[in-house]
Amino acid sequence: MSSELSPIDKAKYACAVKSVDFVKDGMRVGLGTGSTAAWMVKRLGERVRDEGLNIVAVATSTRTAQLAEEVGIKVSTLNEVEWLDLTIDGADEFDPDLNLIKGGGGAHLQEKVVATASERMIVIADAAKDVPQLGAFPLPVEVLNFGWKTTRGLIEEALEDLDVDGREITLRMSGDEPFITDEGNLVLDLHLKRIGDPRRMALILNQIPGVVENGLFIDICDVVVIGHEDGKVEV
Ligand code: 5RP
Repeated sequence: MSSELSPIDKAKYACAVKSVDFVKDGMRVGLGTGSTAAWMVKRLGERVRDEGLNIVAVATSTRTAQLAEEVGIKVSTLNEVEWLDLTIDGADEFDPDLNLIKGGGGAHLQEKVVATASERMIVIADAAKDVPQLGAFPLPVEVLNFGWKTTRGLIEEALEDLDVDGREITLRMSGDEPFITDEGNLVLDLHLKRIGDPRRMALILNQIPGVVENGLFIDICDVVVIGHEDGKVEV
């Protein structure tokens, strides 16, 4: 299978497959969103089918829930389960402290709730996402549709006092229409280039009325499984 993939997909596939080794019988497992997480869900579905692995799964997006059902994983809601043993999810960037930028797929709100409800979060990422400092990837911020332009203005004001190299903010689009999250909100992408203090940034953004959740994951990730383009994996 992996020999037919592009180098980047080979890296994503390799770390996704490896991460499924962490799932044990009887676990409550959070399923992330994105192309890397999709490989993980498919591999987990194989284990459910071939080994009779018994898990309770909670998905971080409607996309992932649909894929999980397609591959034979029964999906529960977080309200049914409340707490999880493990979440496996992708990321857009991770730094040496295992802080993350997530939300490239616009699911970081549910992803953060599910990861925080989990005893452990394992991130699966290709090596290109390993960065010395976060911020080259635009930081997604989920905001209410109500008054979103005002919220954008408040974020612009907040950025004046933050240690960043860029301050452009764009409304995420899906074709000609604004992108709408699973929770019915909008996403603003903050083009910061460099985030000097991710912890402070995360706290300040979430204090702004209209901000629902930012894509910085601070002290949430426990392990990163890194995939390389030659198919090798590092944990
Ligand atoms: C979705 C996410 C994804 O995990 C992140 O964007 C990585 O995606 P991919 O595995 O497709 O590179 O945070 O909200």
